[in-house]
Amino acid sequence: MAAVLDFHLSIPRDGRPSYLRIADGLRQAIQSGRLEPSERLPSCRRLAVMLGVHRHTVTAAADELVAEGWLKGGERRAHRVAAVLPSEFFNARVGHTASRGAKTLRWRLVREAGAPKGAASAARGHRYTFAGGVPDLRLFPYDEFRTCLAQALRRAPRGLGGYGDPAGHPEFIQRLSLYLRRVRVLTGRRILVTHGSQEGMFLVAQLLLRPGDKVAVEELGFPPAWDAFRAAGAELAPVRLDASGMVPEALEVALSKGSVRLIYLTSHHQYPTTVTLPIERRQRIYELASRSAVPIIEDDYDHEFHFRSHPIAPLASNDPSELVIYASTLSKIMFPSMRLGFLAVPEAIYHPLVNLRAIITRQNNTFLQDAVARWIDSGGFERHLRRMRRVYQERRDALVDALSVGRRAGLALDWSVPDGGMALWLDCGVNSDAVTREAAARKVLVNPESHYRFAGTRPGTHLRLGYASQTPPELRAGADILLEAIASVRAARATRP
Ligand SMILES: Cc1ncc(COP(=O)(O)O)c(C=O)c1O
Repeated sequence: MAAVLDFHLSIPRDGRPSYLRIADGLRQAIQSGRLEPSERLPSCRRLAVMLGVHRHTVTAAADELVAEGWLKGGERRAHRVAAVLPSEFFNARVGHTASRGAKTLRWRLVREAGAPKGAASAARGHRYTFAGGVPDLRLFPYDEFRTCLAQALRRAPRGLGGYGDPAGHPEFIQRLSLYLRRVRVLTGRRILVTHGSQEGMFLVAQLLLRPGDKVAVEELGFPPAWDAFRAAGAELAPVRLDASGMVPEALEVALSKGSVRLIYLTSHHQYPTTVTLPIERRQRIYELASRSAVPIIEDDYDHEFHFRSHPIAPLASNDPSELVIYASTLSKIMFPSMRLGFLAVPEAIYHPLVNLRAIITRQNNTFLQDAVARWIDSGGFERHLRRMRRVYQERRDALVDALSVGRRAGLALDWSVPDGGMALWLDCGVNSDAVTREAAARKVLVNPESHYRFAGTRPGTHLRLGYASQTPPELRAGADILLEAIASVRAARATRP
């Protein structure tokens, strides 16, 4: 096709450089059809004369349009309008695939994960929330920690800003190891820092479980951990609990069937019932695991918040068979959005775990780890822990007092005062799903037993009441409303024919 000899270009008059305005004029001419696909343009020299500008200005405008895909050529060859215009490209592709009978893609999901339970419950406009296990974010010493973060950031140019060790920031691991040795009696373990203990459990599941393997779990438990096991294709084998936690005889039966490859245990404060697994049971469960050569994940999520005595040492502190994977978190001590947790594991699975995490999330945020290491060094970490232990104990007592009011008023409430932790397990004497609905209608969030029970079983009469995130007055006000909700479910049951 011969070059167009003359055509009208309308060049916008605004404050932009002339080459951009000329590019606009040319683009407009193409879009409006005055210049057609594949048509040859007059030379830049000729266009420059037409427009009364320097040739380089026209060349710059043409370069711009070549980069955008409107023109082809340049570099000593004449410019042509592109055969397929950028504006046509998408439509042309749709037409093309449709005409060749292309199929609509149906995504083949080889794994499916349900939506996490209870997420963002606080945001749903509850006046009072007894969501379990959430620390009081209002009481964190942000100013103190901000200083540690600022110091960590100052180290960015000296290496901290680059990729780091996938196992975790060495200075954080060193402080954490010392702390764990001193306070949790954990020695001889390798530490892998993770994004919360959830990532730790996910990694362990991916490393140790094949589809069809069974994981022995407490029959009432922590659904996110279950989800991590299921995501690896495992099935859950619920093990009976009683008032002291997992029943070793029931575990023995589950292990005797041969397909259990992992045991998940919340030994310190059973989740959700809060009971502490007694020493004899710990020993028995350990022996059973050792005899069957099945590893245990010990999820110790709120170790420090124990009021009655020193916590019993974790199973991981005495692990001659090297079968305990200890999982823990800073979500309760600091705040969940930090996503800082860790695994303390036997040497044999340390490197496989580190290698696996390196290909998934590579490493944790080094600044946060460095800041926490500084916070530990400064004494702030333990000061905060001591303070929160006192605060949570007071709150536990405030909740117990508030519930006692309901008992005195004739409600059939029952509970054991928890020795520690951040929640209380209340038997409210009526269907706790119904109470949860009644409470929600009154803008109070509680979690019912069914939330934690292995699927397919009846609704229970228990509620897990987190007390850590509300002040005593808030707890009293929320508990008053909860008692109303319980009374209303009881009254409805009494009037049912
Ligand atoms: C039983 C249990 N394990 C672990 C965690 C901590 O999870 P993460 O460290 O992923 O925040 C929680 C927090 O709610 C928990 O209740």
